[in-house]
Amino acid sequence: MSAVGTLGVALIGTGFMGKCHANAWRAVAATFGGAPLRLELLCDTPAEKAAAMAAQFGFTRATGDWRAVVADPAVDVISVTTPNGLHRPIAEAALANGKHVWLEKPMAPALADAEAMAAAVRPGLVTMLGYNYTRNPAFRHAVKLIAEGAIGRPLHFRGVFDEDYMSDPAQPWTWRCLKTDGGLGALGDLGCHLVAAMLPLMGPVESLTAELQTVVPARPFEGGMRSVENDDSAFAHLRFRSGATGSFFCSRVVRGRKNKLAWEVQGSEGTISFDQERMNELWLYRAGGGAATEGFTRILSGPAHPPFGAFSPAAGHNLGFNELKVVEAQELLAGIREGAPVWPDFAAGLGIERIIHAMARASETGSRQQLD
Ligand SMILES: NC(=O)c1ccc[n+]([C@@H]2O[C@H](COP(=O)([O-])OP(=O)(O)OC[C@H]3O[C@@H](n4cnc5c(N)ncnc54)[C@H](O)[C@@H]3O)[C@@H](O)[C@H]2O)c1
Repeated sequence: MSAVGTLGVALIGTGFMGKCHANAWRAVAATFGGAPLRLELLCDTPAEKAAAMAAQFGFTRATGDWRAVVADPAVDVISVTTPNGLHRPIAEAALANGKHVWLEKPMAPALADAEAMAAAVRPGLVTMLGYNYTRNPAFRHAVKLIAEGAIGRPLHFRGVFDEDYMSDPAQPWTWRCLKTDGGLGALGDLGCHLVAAMLPLMGPVESLTAELQTVVPARPFEGGMRSVENDDSAFAHLRFRSGATGSFFCSRVVRGRKNKLAWEVQGSEGTISFDQERMNELWLYRAGGGAATEGFTRILSGPAHPPFGAFSPAAGHNLGFNELKVVEAQELLAGIREGAPVWPDFAAGLGIERIIHAMARASETGSRQQLD
């Protein structure tokens, strides 16, 4: 740590997620307390863009070269919010220079990259992956209810993550369509989030089958058309180590769905249901209520569901997407400052990557894949 009591923060990438990380770094001390942070160094390309975004986000310095960031002595922790193809080189260089890393998901385009990144973590360095949906107080409450037996023995998981951001075939080609830059398509962008939610709810996956599909094979790019190299959608059937079964679907081409990360856990004594498009609500059904009055109960997030109370003392005064990132920043800081457990770190994140890549392999080979 370069200045007593304060951590120096750097941010690489200032797009959708870069702004989200910047907001989280700015809000975390005001929300949760703790020592203020130094927003030290911001990076994007070209350097002029970095300078403009540093001024907007409140960072002291700017650079167009991420290698200068990982080597900077005033930087202790680095947010990496670049396209996926840069995750491995940046994360490995940051770890080699003794920096803590907050990395956006997925870890990297290929499974071998993720394995190398997990192996690069040294003792004393904290890593965190950007699985923000698992920070939701409503989600945490669902995990707790299942662990307490509120729905009996979980029998089935049914999960989808549908968005429409590429449903229009006229939507231009982006780095997300390329194997080297994006990696897996819908699975790498959306499916990994659904896996991250599924694991705390259901426990480890034992085996799976899957089918991937590319619906739009080429998209407009620089006056012509360019091939889409990865999946627009993916189905999977899962068997969990507990004996429960699951169905899984993710797609980036579902008309009308904006952020439908929705799942249901069906148990021997009840059912819990959630939809990210209504992220402050959890629906719980418990058997035995009597035929005339039984039904799903809507549980609205509030201070009874930590860490909601850090944001507001009043239930029903809803949280939003960006606040999930503030929780994530707080959990990363607790890991750095107090040694608190961080989930998912690179080791746990590798487990998520293994599942999405097993889905891709199952589709390619037409065979059931066993997970360790
Ligand atoms: N956690 C979530 O909910 C969530 C949501 C969206 C995206 N993501 C992830 O966040 C990452 C970024 O996605 P995005 O939607 O913000 O993308 P984006 O295209 O909006 O932003 C990427 C940023 O990286 C910058 N960049 C590109 N090359 C660079 C380089 N060499 N040096 C420095 N900066 C460079 C770009 O200029 C841009 O500012 C991806 O890994 C994506 O999967 C996560």
